Amino acid sequence: MKKVLLSLLAVILAANIHAQITDAPSILPKPTKTTMGLANCFFELTPDTKIVNLLGDSDAKSITKEVNRIVQELLGEKLKTATSVKGDNNIIIRKNNSLATEGYILDIAPENIIIQAKSAAGAFYALQTLKQIIPVQAFETPIDLEVVKLPAMKVEDAPHFAYRGFMLDCSRHFWSVETVKEVIDIMAMHKMNRFHWHLTEDQGWRIEIKKYPLLTEIGSLREQTTTGHNEGLDGIPYGGYYSQKDIKEIVKYAAERFITIIPEIEIPGHSLGALCAYPWLGCRGEEGNYKTWSYWGVSPQIACAGKESTFKFWEDVLGEVIKLFPGEYIHIGGDEAPRDEWKVCPLCQQRIKENGLKNEAELQSYVTHRIEEYLNKHGRKLIGWDEILEGGVSQSATIMSWRGASGGIKAAQKGNYAIMTPNDFCYLDYFQTKDRKDEPDAIGGYVPLAKSYSLNPYDKLTAEQQKYILGVQGNLWCEYIPTPMQLQYMALPRLGALAEIGWSNPAPEKKDTNEFIERAKHLSRYYAVFGWNFAKHFYDGVEE
Ligand code: ACM
Ligand code: ZN
Repeated sequence: MKKVLLSLLAVILAANIHAQITDAPSILPKPTKTTMGLANCFFELTPDTKIVNLLGDSDAKSITKEVNRIVQELLGEKLKTATSVKGDNNIIIRKNNSLATEGYILDIAPENIIIQAKSAAGAFYALQTLKQIIPVQAFETPIDLEVVKLPAMKVEDAPHFAYRGFMLDCSRHFWSVETVKEVIDIMAMHKMNRFHWHLTEDQGWRIEIKKYPLLTEIGSLREQTTTGHNEGLDGIPYGGYYSQKDIKEIVKYAAERFITIIPEIEIPGHSLGALCAYPWLGCRGEEGNYKTWSYWGVSPQIACAGKESTFKFWEDVLGEVIKLFPGEYIHIGGDEAPRDEWKVCPLCQQRIKENGLKNEAELQSYVTHRIEEYLNKHGRKLIGWDEILEGGVSQSATIMSWRGASGGIKAAQKGNYAIMTPNDFCYLDYFQTKDRKDEPDAIGGYVPLAKSYSLNPYDKLTAEQQKYILGVQGNLWCEYIPTPMQLQYMALPRLGALAEIGWSNPAPEKKDTNEFIERAKHLSRYYAVFGWNFAKHFYDGVEE
């Protein structure tokens, strides 16, 4: 009899295990550990569910707000809050200092949902997971209480990398505050935590600097924009910039979603927007006849590294930038600096001679060092594109590797921190299909979803060197992206792949591309209900 009971129990357990496998909700980025509860056990979210937020830290309010943002989509109203647990039907948020900084445990039981986290950020990520456990039908058919049933389950999760970034170019095309906020929402849903905001360029300066008003009065405008691939000109004036008020609003919006903004001010190249506003910044001064650029690519003009006034300008600008952005990192660009004008500029040559520099690459390194000193003095750290390695770089500079992974590898070998954004995996302005038939025009390249997902940020690094990889980032350059709809189309779903590389274990043996793609497809239904456009090219570059 005992034997019969035992085998009966085994059959029941096996059936439940089966249910566990088939019923596990699709979550992206993939959590560290998911354990399903008994089949047919659910927590039912209703207008009577209460939020009991016991987190007690300064950011705790953001968590209650986020619960209500989710719930309002479903029920059309906010939940009541309570300061202690009385009875069941609560979403309880508790502190657990034994967890990783951004980690969480999400426990869904028929009685309550319990979230444990060390930080408010962790609790926020638990809610992003919860959002994907809520059946997508509930978002598709809001206020249908029948479908707001959450399966009993437990998720234990923490990110692999501390830096999970996305870069948006707001200079080639300018994006409204609303569009930037939507990008931040998209990042938040993917548990990304660093928004790299590319704010200055040859084609337009986009950040208000009080001390230099012409940067935005003149430098944010261009007479017209090229058409096609630098084939013609459209004759239409173009411009736009963020006031300091806009910036404060966006910084706050991002902070409530646990996203730190890393502003990028391009030094010393990509700076025609600044040079046309203040020609004395350039090697050729007034004779330079500088004009904000109407073409794509890199203009040959550069800021003069021979003049002290240029350094004063950079420091003044960064002084205001530091006040606006509380994060520890400031990005100073440094990529593709065209150094030809430096070769013929008497002041730049004098600087080279006086400082015993070997060449113009070392002059750029001199600039980077001085700017880094300024940032460090003000309690900030410098990030630069991988070109800053060329003339020698300080040990404390962080390298953003974009020309493939080699800059990041070199940095890690030298003991410099690096962020991996290799163009052949992370450039979301590249085409998503090989034949390009069903896509809008793009800059070139070919990065299908599976290629982004195949990024191994640790490739070619020893275990010791791997410690210097802070994380990964997707970059969206916007020359060929004129509308918010197209911006989202280029970002999604590839941003999902890079979010997962940043959050989940990126080791190749831990990844299953086809399984990932199924989850990405499922997540795209949520994109649709949130009104986000996305590319439908999930399978290009993968064997079906
Ligand atoms: C870059 O793509 N120029 C960083
Ligand atoms: Zn010069």
